[in-house]
Parts: sequence; structure tokens; C-alpha cells
Amino acid sequence: MVVLRPAVCLLGAIASAAAQLVSTGMSVTLDNVDLFISPYSSGNVTIKRKALSSLPIINGFRPVTVVQEAVAQSELSALFSDWVSKDDVFSDAFLGAILMPGTKTCGVTEATIGLNTSTFIVPLKNKDVPSGPYFLEMATGQLFPVYRLYSDITDSFSQPLLQKPDGTFQPLSAHVSGASAMTVGVPSRIYYTPTEDKPLAGVRVGIKDIYALAGVKQTNGNRAWYRLYPENTVTAVSVQRLIDAGAVIVGAQKPSQFANGESATADWVDFGSPWNPRGDGYQDPSSSSSGAGASIGAYEWLDLALGSDTGGSIRGPAGVQGIFGSRPSHGLVPLDNVMPLSPALDTAGFLVRDVALWDTANQVLYGSNYTSFAGKKAKYPPKLYTMGYPAAANSDANAIFVDFLGKLTEFLGTPATPLVLADEWAANPPADAPGDVAISSMYYLTYAILIAKQQVALLRDSFYADYAAAYDGRLPFINPVPLSRWAFGDSYPDSALTDALRNKTILMDWISTNYLTPVEDEAQCSSSIVIYPGNSGRQNPRNQYNAKPGAPVGFGTSRISPFTEVPDFVFPLGEISAKSGITGHAEQFPVAVNVMAAKGCDGLIVKLAQDLVEAGILTPPKAGRTLTGGEILI
Ligand SMILES: *[C@@H]1O[C@H](CO)[C@@H](O)[C@H](O)[C@H]1NC(C)=O
Ligand SMILES: *[C@@H]1O[C@H](CO)[C@@H](O)[C@H](O)[C@H]1NC(C)=O
Ligand SMILES: *[C@@H]1O[C@H](CO)[C@@H](O)[C@H](O)[C@H]1NC(C)=O
Ligand SMILES: *[C@@H]1O[C@H](CO)[C@@H](O)[C@H](O)[C@H]1NC(C)=O
Repeated sequence: MVVLRPAVCLLGAIASAAAQLVSTGMSVTLDNVDLFISPYSSGNVTIKRKALSSLPIINGFRPVTVVQEAVAQSELSALFSDWVSKDDVFSDAFLGAILMPGTKTCGVTEATIGLNTSTFIVPLKNKDVPSGPYFLEMATGQLFPVYRLYSDITDSFSQPLLQKPDGTFQPLSAHVSGASAMTVGVPSRIYYTPTEDKPLAGVRVGIKDIYALAGVKQTNGNRAWYRLYPENTVTAVSVQRLIDAGAVIVGAQKPSQFANGESATADWVDFGSPWNPRGDGYQDPSSSSSGAGASIGAYEWLDLALGSDTGGSIRGPAGVQGIFGSRPSHGLVPLDNVMPLSPALDTAGFLVRDVALWDTANQVLYGSNYTSFAGKKAKYPPKLYTMGYPAAANSDANAIFVDFLGKLTEFLGTPATPLVLADEWAANPPADAPGDVAISSMYYLTYAILIAKQQVALLRDSFYADYAAAYDGRLPFINPVPLSRWAFGDSYPDSALTDALRNKTILMDWISTNYLTPVEDEAQCSSSIVIYPGNSGRQNPRNQYNAKPGAPVGFGTSRISPFTEVPDFVFPLGEISAKSGITGHAEQFPVAVNVMAAKGCDGLIVKLAQDLVEAGILTPPKAGRTLTGGEILI
């Protein structure tokens, strides 16, 4: 027997469960291009439901173009050519209807723009909707912004994000074709015009996944961490400054675990290492700002990445990916709501291809702590030191280094003086250091102690306690590198940290008194410039098995900036051609130099990069397989 239940009961039940239906946006393809329709409207227009009926439509959305510029119809064609040349989202496919103010008629008219395109011209009263491509929802008259979708073929992103109009974040709910790769969305560049208040308007930025982003669960490169903690409710101060200046954050990017240095093969257990796009495509991307470096090396559609550098985490990835990278003077950029490795050494800086953007972004990131030389001349320091620099062009990489030094000394009008710190230290040691201890012995343990002791105290202990409380006394999984470093820290008494901090200060004072001294004259800033070779194009493929990880003991040139708090920036110099062990074919591998100045002279180094680009001594890198572009090998 069939029991008929009264329909009203069922309907009543449905009505009382207040269902919340929220759009997270929509993916479409337009002329075979993958696009995303934002769920956040930019504004609305009044339009007759039946108008534009010959335009393509999907789920009630039609592609249209808004033009707020005061241009005559005859000038539209030139305007659109300009848009196409600078934007990867706008295309002719949006030209079926053009919404523009100043149109006298109240209805829709037909026009021909350019040679062939027939279009509807729609009068627009709303002046608040920026120019550019949109999807118009016919039922409501709302205009929704358009994003281009890209496959993250280098696995640089841990979490692609959609920045909401209020500056907080939600996941980007989109996926395009790609094997085991995320999808990243970037908004049309036409919506944005940089102003004094918003100098980074529309600049597309990736953020290392150790910075808090409101609405986003952080990974720190660790799966257990991601699982355990809830969404951040605040955004890190440094990132908020970028957002306030108009930047568009398009996703969180992979760090090696807890920002410790890791090699691609065995060390990256929790999340896979990003792929270095240069050369044969199988070189280690370096760490810990790995996603930052790989993405800026790979994607012309991404402008800027915010990384962090404790012992080389920006400089390493910048070097092997052949891009610019900056480890700022310590303390000048706030690190609130950023995961700590060692607060005594941690810094927040950029990876970037364009030197003008580098300067603008630094002004925003450091605020008043950065002195830009934009529109000013630098009075370069009279002294140039080299450290560990090749003297002869006895290899392809050394030929690049030697050639650069020749041009640099000519440009600065200063000869280069080799600086051998070990000898200087032996001859003229700081008064507060034991006279008979070599610099390499005194600083053998310092870095390893600082990062291990500080990260154990500031991160590990509370993480273990929180995890144990949530999972019945269990330990979370930790990758081999951080685990071995933390164990190393545990094997030393707390007094080792005090010693390390004291030792660090001794070196800082010695360097700042003798070699990198701040000077009064703002146009000069630093007593000298110090350069040392960075990546030398050496192949370091990711299919090699390394020794077991241990503590990063030892002292070398790259430890000077962390210990002495001076800025240390990477300039890409070029690339060498060498037979790849992977492809058996000649490939290009980047060569880079590091540049240091006195603490606080960060702007001077960027100015030097800009002047060297202008003089043709440096060439800004392109994204792709080589520094001049090309399809990435996979
Ligand atoms: C259209 O825009 C106006 C002004 O921006 C706003 O007041 C109105 O609520 C909007 N209408 C709809 C349907 O969203
Ligand atoms: C104009 O359209 C016709 C027909 O679709 C096409 O054959 C021609 O190539 C187009 N001309 C231009 C300049 O785009
Ligand atoms: C500038 O640096 C100082 C010293 O570290 C810091 O206290 C201050 O917050 C920084 N100012 C800005 C605008 O970030
Ligand atoms: C600090 O310096 C002393 C020499 O003065 C050295 O013996 C010690 O190992 C150093 N410790 C650390 C942690 O840097």
C-alpha cells in the first residue's frame, strides 16, 4: 500500500531549514580562453532584458566591455588595441556590447568599431565601475569582474585565493586543465590605474604561505599545522600594506617546511617542492621561498612575490631562478603575524623581474623605513669590495662574473678591492672577541643555534602541545630537515642562544664600523658596496639523493647579512649554456650576483639595479625557460 504523506509537511520542512545558497563565482570559457566570473559585483546598469539578445549568454551572463574613458567612437579601436597589448584578460570577445557614458540616446544603438567589429553601444550612467571586460548578469544588471585562469604548472601555489572587496580572502573555486596542478586566477589589468594612494593598483602578488591572510588557513609547509589550526582572522601587517596600496593577492605560495632549507628530493615529504622553470625544468628551486621564486621565474602573468629570508630563503630562490630578490635590512619591515624561524634574523622581502616595480613595492612594504631614489640621483659610495669573487674568466660563469665586475667598476668609477674577512679578522679582531679565534670557528654554530633554539621556543613547543591536546597525545609529522634542526637545538643548553646573540652583535658592530658604515649624506647612504657571487649556473638537479639532513653549521659569505642586519639583494647577471644531465641537450642556467650596502641603504641597491639596467649592464629577466623567455620544459 502506498502511503501518501501530505505535501504541505514536506514543504514546511524545507521552508524552515533556511538554506544558504552562496555563489563562489563561475568558470567559463570564452573563445577557448579559461575565465572566471567573480561573485562580487562591481556595480550595475539599467538595461532592457531583451536587449543584446544576439550576444553569447551563459547562465544569464553576457560578455561586455565598460569604457569610462572620454573617447569618441572613432577612437575606440585604438583604445582596445592598447588594452590587448597590456592585459591578458580583455579580448575582442567582450566587444559585442560597449557600455559607455556620454551616449545621448537612451536606448541601445549599433555601431561598427575598427574595420569589422559590429557592436552595441549601451549608455552608462554608473561612473564607479572601472573600465574593462565584464560579465553582465541580464536579470539584475550587475557587472561582474573577469579573471583569467592559469594552471600552476610549476606547483608554486599552496592555495590559490580570491581577494574579496573588503581585502579578506576565500578560496578561488576554479579549476582548469592541468596534471596535479592548482588553478590561479588573475583579474583584468584594465580595472586598475596606479595613483599616489594606490601605487600598486592591480599588481598581482603571491604570498609565501607563512604570512597570515584573513580567512585563510596557513600551511607553513606542514600538513598537520594546516589541519590543526583554524582560519586566520587577521592579515599580516606587511601584506595588508600591499593590499591597501591596491595590490591583488592571487594566492599563498609554497614554502619549504617552517621556512627551513630543504632540497627537492627527499626533504619535501609533506608537500611537493615547486618546479624551477629554468633550464631543463628539473633543477632544485632552492628554498625556503620556493613557490615565490619558481612562480616569478615562470609566469609573465604574475608580477611580484613576497618571500622571507632568514639565512638565504629569498636570495637562494632568486639566484637559481635568475630574478631580482631582496633580503631587507633587518627590522625595517614588520613581521607581525608571520611564522618565526629566528626573529633575530628573519626578514620579509620580494622576488621580482621588474626594477621599477621593485622600488615601488619596497616603498609600500617598508613605509617610511625605505628611502627611494625615484627621480633622484645616487652618489655611489667611493669604495667597492668583492668577497670570494673570481679573478679570472676561467669558466663560463666566471666570465660572466668578471665581465660584470669590469662594467660595474667602470660605471661606479671605483676599482674593486678584494675583502678577505678571515684575514681582516685575524689582523684586526673586534676587542670583544677572543683574539685567537678564527672568524669561521667563532661563527661555526651561530646560525644553527639561532634558528633551532628560537623556532623550538616560538613555534615547536606550542605546536606539539596543541597537537597533543587535540589528538590524544600524538606527535604531528615533521619533515626530516626541521626535525633534525630542532633536535640539534635541544642538544645545546639555553646559554648557547645567549652566546649566539652576543656573537652576532660582535660581528654586526665590527662590519658596520669597518666595512659597511652608514653615512650622513642621504644620496650616498653607505660607505661602500660589497658584492659576492651568487648562483653560478651549477646544475643541482632534483633527482639526486642527498646525505641525511643535519644542522646548518659553518660560516660563509651568505651569513654576513643575517648576522650584521645589512641589506643583501640579488641581481641576475645572465646564464651559461651547458649540457643538461636530464635532457642531454644544451640548456641555460642562471648566474647571479649579491649586492650589500650599509644597514638602511636598501633603496640605494635598487637604484643601482635601475641604473645598471638603464646603462645596459643588467637586463631584466623574462619568465620562462630562459632569462629571455621560452616555453618551460616539463
Ligand atoms: C544598483 O546600484 C545602485 C547604486 O550603485 C544601488 O543603490 C542599487 O542597490 C543597485 N541595484 C541593484 C539591483 O543591485
Ligand atoms: C572581416 O570579416 C570578414 C568576414 O568574417 C573576414 O573575412 C575578414 O578577414 C575580416 N577583416 C578583418 C580586417 O578582420
Ligand atoms: C621602521 O623600523 C623600526 C625599527 O625596526 C620599526 O620599529 C618601525 O615599526 C618601522 N616602521 C615602519 C613604518 O614599518
Ligand atoms: C660564540 O663565540 C665563542 C667565541 O667567542 C665560540 O666559542 C662559541 O662557539 C660561539 N657560540 C655561538 C653559539 O655562536
